[in-house]
Amino acid sequence: MTRDEAVAVLTAHNQLHVLEGFDQLTATQQEGLLDQIAAIDWDMLAIAGKKQEDSKGEITPLESLTLDEIAAREEEFKAAGLAAIRDHKIGAVLLAGGMGTRLGSDRPKGELNVGLTRELYIFECLINNLMDVVREAGTSIPLYIMTSEKNDADTRAFFAEHDYFGYASEDVKFFIQDMAAAVDYDGKLLMEAPGRLATSPNGNGGWFSSLARAGLLDDVHARGVEWLNIFAVDNVLQKIADPTFFGATLLHGVDCGSKVVRKANPEEKVGVMCCEDGHPSIVEYYELSDEMANARDAKGNLVYGAGVILNYLFAVSRLEKIMNEKMPVHVVEKKIPYITSEGTLVKPEEPNGYKFELLAVDMVRLMEQCLPYEVVREHEFAPIKNLHGVDSLDTARELLQQNGVAL
Ligand code: UTP
Repeated sequence: MTRDEAVAVLTAHNQLHVLEGFDQLTATQQEGLLDQIAAIDWDMLAIAGKKQEDSKGEITPLESLTLDEIAAREEEFKAAGLAAIRDHKIGAVLLAGGMGTRLGSDRPKGELNVGLTRELYIFECLINNLMDVVREAGTSIPLYIMTSEKNDADTRAFFAEHDYFGYASEDVKFFIQDMAAAVDYDGKLLMEAPGRLATSPNGNGGWFSSLARAGLLDDVHARGVEWLNIFAVDNVLQKIADPTFFGATLLHGVDCGSKVVRKANPEEKVGVMCCEDGHPSIVEYYELSDEMANARDAKGNLVYGAGVILNYLFAVSRLEKIMNEKMPVHVVEKKIPYITSEGTLVKPEEPNGYKFELLAVDMVRLMEQCLPYEVVREHEFAPIKNLHGVDSLDTARELLQQNGVAL
C-alpha cells in the first residue's frame, strides 16, 4: 500500500490520526505501518461499540455420549482409535496464540512452571500427555502449534531450548495466527508505538485458515492426516489424540467430536453443547433462559449440561469445505496499552477499548454433526486462567497431584 492509498482509506474511515508523525519514521517503520493499514479488516472494526444482534437460531438439546455409555464400549472405541492413529489419521493442534493476560506475564503461557520441587512447564505437561498416546500407539503424531506475532519467537526458542520435551522435533510445526487492530471506546485505532498500530491476536477461531495460509495443509495431506484435534494451552490435564474419544467419534460417523464435562450446577458459567436450527452448536451460559438452564431429563441430568472444554476433533475434509465461510466477530473490552499523541506509553489499569476475536466454538456450528463426549472433570480439566482462585495455577496443581503427577 502506498502512502496516498493509506491517506485515502484512513480518511474514508475517519482514522487519519494514524499517520501523524509518519514523516519522522524510518523507511522500515513506514513500510511496516502501511502493511498494517493494508491488513485492517474495516468490517470488523465497524461493529465496535454497537450492540451485537442476537443471531442465535432455535436451540434444542443435543445428547452426549455419557460416561456409562463410553465405559460399555470402551474397548471397541479404543481399538478403532488406536488403529486410526497408527494409520496416521490424526494430528494435534495446540492453540497457543493467546496473550494469557489474566496471568499477568509477558511470556507465553506455556512457559509457566507448575512444578513445586522441580521444573514442569505447561508445555511440558501437554507434551507428556500427548507422548503417552504416541507410546501406546507406537507411532508418531504431528503437533501443529499456533502462536501469534507476539509470542512466536519466544515459543519456538523455548521448545528448542528444552529439546521439544522429548517429542520428535520433525513432528512439531509452528504457525502464526492473524492479528487484529484494536480501537478505543470511540472506535479510534490505537498505536502501541510510533509507527505501530496496537494489534492483538484475532482469537482462536482463525486457526484453520492460519494453518492453511502457513502452508501446513500440505504437511497434513502429505502425512495422510484426516482429523485434527484442537486443544487449549492452559488445560494441563487434557488428553490429546485420546484414542477412545477418537474411536467413538469415528464410529459415530460424525464430522466433529467435542469433549464435555457435566456442568457442576445450572449457574456454572460455561458454554454447553446444543442443537441450533438442527446444527451442532454451543450456547453460552448467558444465552440460556433460566428455564433452559434448569431443565432436567428423566434421569435428573441437566438437559443443557454438557460444558465444553475446548478440546475438539474436526474432520479435515469438512474444515476445508467451510474454510472461507464468515465466522461471527466477537468484540471484547480489554486493557490495551497505547501511546498518546505526545508519544507517552500508557498501560491502562482498566479496560480502555475493544479487541476483535473469532472463536473456535463458532466452528462447531459449521459442522454437520457433532458427538459430545463426556469426560470426568477431575481427570481431564485443569485450566490455568489465573494465578490464584478459580481455574488457577493453585487449583491445577492440586488436580495434577490428585492425578498422580509429581510436582
Ligand atoms: P483464552 O480465552 O483463555 O485467552 O484462550 P488467553 O488470551 O489465553 O487468556 P486471557 O483471556 O488473555 O487471560 C483459550 C485458548 O485459546 C488460545 C489460548 O492460547 C488458549 O489456548 N488463543 C486465544 C489463541 O490461540 N489465540 C487467541 O487469539 C486467543
